[in-house]
Amino acid sequence: MNNSTNIQIKEQTLEAAYHCWLQYNKLDSSIEEHYQTYCETLVFLDHSQIIQAAKEELVQGITSMIHPPSVHAVPLEKPSIVLATYENNQLKDYGINTTVLDHLQEDSYLIQTITYKNHHTIAIIGKQDKGVLYGAFHLLRLMQMRENLNELAIIENPSNQIRMINHWDNMDGSIERGYSGDSIFYKDYEFIHDIKRIKDYARLLSSIGINSLSINNVNVHKVETNLITKEMLPSVAEIADIMRCYGITTYLSVNYASTIEIGNLPTADPLDKDVQQWWIEKTKEIYQHIPDFGGFIVKADSEHRPGPFTYNRTHADGANMLAKALEPFGGLVFWRCFVYNCLQDWRDRKTDRARAAYDHFKPLDGEFMDNVILQIKNGPMDFQVREPVSPLFGALQNTNHVLEFQVAQEYTGQQKDLCFLVPQWKEVLDFDTHAKGEGTTIKSIVDGSQFDLTYSGITAVSNIGNDMNWTGNTLAQANFFGYGRLIWNTDLTSEEIANEWVRITFGHDDEVVSTITKMLLHSWEIYENYTAPLGVGWMINPGHHYGPNIEGYEYSLWGTYHFSDCFGTGVNRTIKDGTGYTSQYYPENTSLYDSIETCPDNLLLFFHHVPYRHQLKSGKTVIQHIYDTHFLGVEQVQDMIQKWKQLEQNIDSYRYKNVLDRFNMQLENAIEWRDCINTYFFRHSGIQDEHSRLIY
Ligand code: GCU
Repeated sequence: MNNSTNIQIKEQTLEAAYHCWLQYNKLDSSIEEHYQTYCETLVFLDHSQIIQAAKEELVQGITSMIHPPSVHAVPLEKPSIVLATYENNQLKDYGINTTVLDHLQEDSYLIQTITYKNHHTIAIIGKQDKGVLYGAFHLLRLMQMRENLNELAIIENPSNQIRMINHWDNMDGSIERGYSGDSIFYKDYEFIHDIKRIKDYARLLSSIGINSLSINNVNVHKVETNLITKEMLPSVAEIADIMRCYGITTYLSVNYASTIEIGNLPTADPLDKDVQQWWIEKTKEIYQHIPDFGGFIVKADSEHRPGPFTYNRTHADGANMLAKALEPFGGLVFWRCFVYNCLQDWRDRKTDRARAAYDHFKPLDGEFMDNVILQIKNGPMDFQVREPVSPLFGALQNTNHVLEFQVAQEYTGQQKDLCFLVPQWKEVLDFDTHAKGEGTTIKSIVDGSQFDLTYSGITAVSNIGNDMNWTGNTLAQANFFGYGRLIWNTDLTSEEIANEWVRITFGHDDEVVSTITKMLLHSWEIYENYTAPLGVGWMINPGHHYGPNIEGYEYSLWGTYHFSDCFGTGVNRTIKDGTGYTSQYYPENTSLYDSIETCPDNLLLFFHHVPYRHQLKSGKTVIQHIYDTHFLGVEQVQDMIQKWKQLEQNIDSYRYKNVLDRFNMQLENAIEWRDCINTYFFRHSGIQDEHSRLIY
């Protein structure tokens, strides 16, 4: 092999990493023949920027999988793929009944195989042009999955109306909690203007149904405060222009104290007339640059960010002030509920950070304007490996709200360790709050079907950066993909999502598919095994949050303690003699968690302080469970590495090595966790491992 071929192969494999799940690899001849009939001809009966994006995608995908299709704007008497929005008159000729879309959401679509003038035809009909684009991506996914297209009868209606990603990108190029390089938007306090990369990002987002995007960190620092000024808005508009073509609305995180920082006002009091007027003018200016601007994300009175508390005002006062300015333009305020005392005294056993979001926001239920959406993290603490769900879900019944996940693996291995988060998110979504009796699941609350609210949906912290493969660890692409797929259809199983992702990302080799799918599905459990046990959380290095540091947060200000001593471990959050956090749930869950008898093992230490010899439902003692899971976790990582090595011949070298390198880091991490945790609890409890394994 000469040098230039070598370079070519290397580039190709980098490209495979870059394209994520939009690989569009050449098809085998058997399936190619089947698809070819339809794919020779594309007919677009409507036109818009978004339909143009659908056209480009289909042409690119089909060209790369089969060969270039011919593209037309009028019905043709030959097999074809026909795309239109559902009110297009020409659909009558095709005999397609689109009334099913009448009552579905604006992003819905159908895909049907029909006969038109004796020719097999695939129709992709969107309720609006966005549906056409989503339908085009769906068809391309089916082709990548090698599905038979002869009898398609698909109706898709997204579970959630708002399907959002939040970037935590700073303008210096760094990403708060970013584990895959730097920002694709900013560098050295300037916009990068990398149109190609941003467009490819928009394609990835839209292919999984994301329709909303905020492009800067919720911690809005000095320079980023200026994103809403006339100097920077044209560059924001440039990004919004690209996103718009893919059906994605652009949002900005704003500094609550902008009036002081850039508005020359002495205050940010939400009831001050000048402050209100400033935001009204500012918002007008933003909409001159970006007519379909989405609105603001606000982190206020949280972790040293300014907010209405300074002026003795409520969060409803603050949010409504911004909402008023956005209202004439249809803009929204996403107001985060991550509000807690981050200057706690560790000696104070009464204050419980887990209570904070509920205590702050439940009393305000119903006081927010209709274009305010509260944004609630999935758990009461902060995206730990294992937490109960936030009791605010079900408690808020008169305020729009969205659920916030973290796709970025801040506390779940930082995209070095493998941790496929879809199973965790599914547990959250399937949790029964009992708010309106049995079956009031979180997914049915956030999809808007339980309470009569105007806006609902799901958002999440992005896990992408400018690394060639977007996510650092190539396998972390599965979290990006899985997040979009799951919030589009919350009934999909983790297995379905994992299997689909592996096939369209790595191809259909049986061993590759089954090995990687299994790894993904077990990875959260494995990660949990070697890290913090039984729901306790926070045994991590302060600051960067990677690796074990069991007392790293124990004597700090952050309200994140586990209270381990020589007798026992865990946080007493019961009503009787704990912090009373359990009372924030509906009675069924209050009693489930409050009683040590019924509290599930995996959350025991979140809710209870127990002796080390306390017997779990599994039959093991707490201490033996800690030892066993930590030894097991390391073995499981070793096993994954062995399995991955067996795939060497079936995966391109770049992605193979990328993942192997990460697995090796994961193993080191897992060993460190095992030994630190086991040693710590052995020394504290003085209890021997039943199997006499090596503990230091
Ligand atoms: C976590 C995270 C911070 C982030 C914060 C938030 O605390 O560590 O980096 O700013 O969440 O969600 O606002």
